[in-house]
Order: sequence, then C-alpha cells, then structure tokens
Amino acid sequence: MKVAILISSRGSNMQALVRASKQDGFPAEIVTVLSNNPDAAGLDFAKENDIPTKVINHRDYENREDFDTDVSKYLTEQKVDLICLAGFMRLLTPDFVNRWRDRIINIHPSLLPAFKGLHVHERAIESGTRFTGCTVHFVRPEMDDGPIVVQAVVPILTGDTADILADRILVQEHRIYPLALKLIAERKVKVHGSIATIVGAAETEATLTNPLVSDD
Ligand code: GRF
Repeated sequence: MKVAILISSRGSNMQALVRASKQDGFPAEIVTVLSNNPDAAGLDFAKENDIPTKVINHRDYENREDFDTDVSKYLTEQKVDLICLAGFMRLLTPDFVNRWRDRIINIHPSLLPAFKGLHVHERAIESGTRFTGCTVHFVRPEMDDGPIVVQAVVPILTGDTADILADRILVQEHRIYPLALKLIAERKVKVHGSIATIVGAAETEATLTNPLVSDD
C-alpha cells in the first residue's frame, strides 16, 4: 500500500509512521511526505530518511478548492492508495474528502467523539473527566468525524497541565497510528457506514471479556 503523510509542522506522528514502515514485513510504504508549510520541521526528518517531500503552500492559493485540487493531483500522480493526516492544520473541502473517501485517515488527541476541534487538552482537563486519549479515524467532511479505527485511553492526573497531558497522549499516538496503518494496509479494517470493524477483533474481545464471566 502506497501512503502519503500530510503534515504542517513538527511531524512526530509522521516520524512514528516512517519508523514503523521501515520494519521488515510492514505492509505499507511511505511514498511521500507533503506539507502545506515550507518551514515544517518534519520535512527535514523525511529528507534524512530518503522519503520524497513536497511542499504545496496554501498561501499561494486564493481558495481552498484550488489548493485541494493541486494536492489531489499530486497524490494521484504519486499513485497514493492512502493518505495519513498527521498534524495537517488545513481543513479539507468536502470534494477532496469525498474523492478520497475511506482512503484518508487522521489522528486526533482525544477520545472521539469527545473533544473535537482545537485546545482539546485544556478542554479535557477543565471538563473534569478522568480519562481522555487519542483516536485514529477515517476522515469525513465534518471536522474530526468519521469511522474510528483505533483508540488509546490516557488518564488525566491531578496537577496535569495541557502540556503534560499532551506529552502523555503523544506517546500513545505514536503507538496507535502505526497500528492503525498496519491494520488498514493488511485490509483488516472494513468500513460500514459510520462504523469501522477490524477482522479478528471479536476473537480478541472474547479472550478479554471471558475472565470477567464468573463460573459460579
Ligand atoms: C498531534 O497531537 C495530533 O494528534 C494532532 O496534531 C498533533 C500533531 O503533532 N492532530 P505532530 O506534528 O505529529 O508531532
């Protein structure tokens, strides 16, 4: 499976995906890292790892449609099968999202559908919830919406600041994004409407829940 990763800045999730893809037998290849921001720090890492990079600067465009058209054209030329958004800070038009339907995924630092949008860590702490986390999901035209592939739960601890919590969640992001990519590339993820199911998950769930069933 040929994969493009779209970034806007640091690119630590992109790095996690690239590292995973270099492991023997990983079922996906990162064929390009694209940034809308020419100064994105993540571009250097991609270059150092011999991944082709591309900058399509949104500031060179008068509207979203034209920007998205050029991004789509480039990804098609690269024969990309799957797009991974990894800290890509541009809203994509419904036309773009529908054109790549079920072939575009995103990582978001909350347990969706809770805390969509920005400033999620502050909002999670202020809500008083005990647990938050991160989610890899297929992208739909509405922001931070779409079938959920993998999630990880992270506790919110007394005294957490947004930065401390963000760092704790990021560790889990770097685990679940490569896992989600692997499952999708192995064709183990099936999308039915708003739900994504994982082939073989029922067996795993059975072993997880069986010990809870008492014989008494
Ligand atoms: C991550 O927290 C990701 O969940 C969110 O943006 C951040 C990007 O970080 N969508 P990085 O660029 O991958 O380091």
